[in-house]
Amino acid sequence: MKKLSARRRHPLAALVVLLLALACTGGLYAVFAPADKAQADETAQSLAIEEGKKLYAVGCASCHGTGGQGTTDGPSLVGVGAAAVDFQVGTGRMPAQQPGAQVPRKKVIYSQAEIDQLAAYVASLGAGPAVPSEEKYGPEGADIAKGGELFRTNCAQCHNFTGKGGALTHGKYAPTLEDVDPKHIYQAMQTGPQNMPSFPDTTLSEQNKKDIIAYLNAVNGEETESPGGLSLGGLGPVTEGLFGWIFGLGACIAVAVWVAARTAKAKKS
Ligand code: HEC
Ligand code: HEC
Repeated sequence: MKKLSARRRHPLAALVVLLLALACTGGLYAVFAPADKAQADETAQSLAIEEGKKLYAVGCASCHGTGGQGTTDGPSLVGVGAAAVDFQVGTGRMPAQQPGAQVPRKKVIYSQAEIDQLAAYVASLGAGPAVPSEEKYGPEGADIAKGGELFRTNCAQCHNFTGKGGALTHGKYAPTLEDVDPKHIYQAMQTGPQNMPSFPDTTLSEQNKKDIIAYLNAVNGEETESPGGLSLGGLGPVTEGLFGWIFGLGACIAVAVWVAARTAKAKKS
């Protein structure tokens, strides 16, 4: 007992107590903080859904129904997922305006924060594809050549060889893919807007999607400065080579024939 009280009076005693107290607080924080963070995330999520619901009631419910069940003016949004909303509203397609063969891209009227809230609300109606994280559509680890191959087999029949776009039947068209945000390219493949088929991960893996996006970035970046002058629609090296072969060699033969004819004439006279 005596020993303890002697230590208590030790000049360092206060410091030791203070350090112990600090360690305890740190420990307690470590134990409780993760729970707090998860709870905070959950509250933020339900807040976003709440805000999204309000935005939805004003801007979307007239066509898609008050609970997203759909009306004669718009399809059901149950289960389309956050990715579909982020794509449709983020490219300005939604809210739709005038009726027509196809809802076009137009000026985006919601901020990204509002789009996130709308997406959170629609995602809460039924499970669907989530908005991809940046590492999924970023250029790291992408194979551009593989992307070109995948693009030519899966997308070129509608969007043209380098994504310049093209007409489809009944006034519909596959738009150009130049200047489309990589995130929106990813989401178009995930959700298949309007007449475009969707390409879930079972058809085109995450890596395949990344490769295609990197390919589109590469061709659209270089398109402005086609080294040969004419880009020939970017049909690929074989076709372009064939073009050079036929027209280039054809021109050489024509010149040769012309020269031969001239010399023959010159000799005669
Ligand atoms: C004027 C009516 C109208 C309004 C307003 C409208 N939409 Fe749409 N929406 C449509 C129609 C029609 C389609 C179907 C387009 C198609 O596939 O041809 C559609 C499609 C969609 C899709 C794609 C569904 C899918 O299956 O992938 C999403 C997502 C969507 N709308 C979200 C919204 C959101 C969010 C709003 C509010 C900001 C909104 N829409 C406002 C008419 C509307
Ligand atoms: C059957 C034809 C068809 C095929 C195949 C197709 N698309 Fe599409 N794509 C379309 C149509 C039609 C639209 C316009 C839809 C809309 O406006 O909602 C479109 C829209 C897009 C958009 C949105 C462009 C924008 O301006 O916002 C992207 C990105 C896209 N497609 C990428 C692809 C990729 C990548 C592939 C291949 C994996 C592909 N598409 C395959 C027909 C097709």
